[in-house]
Amino acid sequence: MISYNSNLFLIFIIFTTILCLPSSTYGIPTKYSSIMGPNLDKLPTQDKTIEIFQLWMKEHGRVYKDLDEMAKKFDIFISNLKYITETNAKRKSSNGFLLGLTNFTDWSSEEFQERYLHNIDMPTDIDTMKVNDVHLSSCSAPSSLDWRSKGVVSDIKDQKNCGSCWAFSAVGAIEGINAITTGKLINLSEQELLDCDPISGGCNSGWVNKAFDWVIRNKGVALDNDYPYTAEKGVCKASQIPNSAISSINTYHHVEQSDQGLLCAVAKQPVSVCLYAPQDFHHYSSGIYDGPNCPVNSKDTNHCVLIVGYDSVDGQDYWIVKNQWGTSWGMEGYMHIKRNTNKKYGVCAINSWAYNPVKYNGRKPNISSILDQQ
Ligand SMILES: *[C@@H]1O[C@H](CO)[C@@H](O)[C@H](O)[C@H]1NC(C)=O
Ligand SMILES: *[C@@H]1O[C@H](CO)[C@@H](O)[C@H](O)[C@H]1NC(C)=O
Ligand SMILES: *[C@@H]1O[C@H](CO)[C@@H](O)[C@H](O)[C@H]1NC(C)=O
Repeated sequence: MISYNSNLFLIFIIFTTILCLPSSTYGIPTKYSSIMGPNLDKLPTQDKTIEIFQLWMKEHGRVYKDLDEMAKKFDIFISNLKYITETNAKRKSSNGFLLGLTNFTDWSSEEFQERYLHNIDMPTDIDTMKVNDVHLSSCSAPSSLDWRSKGVVSDIKDQKNCGSCWAFSAVGAIEGINAITTGKLINLSEQELLDCDPISGGCNSGWVNKAFDWVIRNKGVALDNDYPYTAEKGVCKASQIPNSAISSINTYHHVEQSDQGLLCAVAKQPVSVCLYAPQDFHHYSSGIYDGPNCPVNSKDTNHCVLIVGYDSVDGQDYWIVKNQWGTSWGMEGYMHIKRNTNKKYGVCAINSWAYNPVKYNGRKPNISSILDQQ
């Protein structure tokens, strides 16, 4: 005997309305805000929740296979809506972050965690590896910087159902330094790293620094067009597929763990970072995320992304962060994370594992000067 959900009757209404009525014959509101308030901080009534769910399904092209699946998803949707509105109701400043309805609003936290967030055990032998702390805690960085406007940041990508954030983060940084040094922005292949890096765990997470090591050994990485993303670890085809002509890097640095160290690194190029993504990331919609649900003074991370710039609004300083969860997440795929908080590891450990790849740009490197830096 199938035990049906208590919302079954409501679900039946949604299901039949959607199946039987052409969408143009009834008025789905164009904005959730007309029901949930401009800051999405009011939990709608049950009737209105159905309206919101319909609107959301339409927006994201969601089709469920049967009533049972829809009933389960509707329940999850309601509990997410509750989390979203309660969190938004606590917002203190108009620049603070807002949660909203994303493509993931019918996923449970467990599903989201499973799909996107994997604890990354950072190497403990950090000092013995080819990881070089560069203590650049003073530099003359401009007061704001957005690498996107300089044409060195590729479009938002989607890691899909695979814990490959490490590969996207590494590739984003390599695309950046290559565009800066050669003037050409090209999409490079995350899939090649996924298939070929023998140390990182494919779709079960991995390490940005190990990805750079692999690219250095391989003398570059393939074009994304030549080696496209499949969201699954496959057989390494590096020997059959040529590297992009301009994708090589010479080395990489582990950025000093401080706000200022990270600033000096981002002033030079887009920087790869790993961080701790709490449940808020699931629903992040806009504004400056200040990490209320991140562990304090922790270096633990479960996600890697790319910092592509920084700015300030009303005295609040923030990083501009490129994610790879599609453009329907966050601000067209981007997020703002608070900086200059005087926490060594930064908000959500964003300062803890930052790496920048280095490219010598055709000049013969001055080895003694590089050694000095290391
Ligand atoms: C990267 O790939 C995306 C998706 O295929 C495409 O829209 C974009 O134009 C490409 N960017 C560059 C710089 O080639
Ligand atoms: C939204 O999620 C669905 C599955 O849950 C997926 O098939 C689709 O590609 C996602 N779309 C975007 C833009 O992320
Ligand atoms: C190489 O770097 C060292 C140390 O920074 C410096 O003393 C030396 O002048 C540099 N040599 C050249 C040829 O630039």
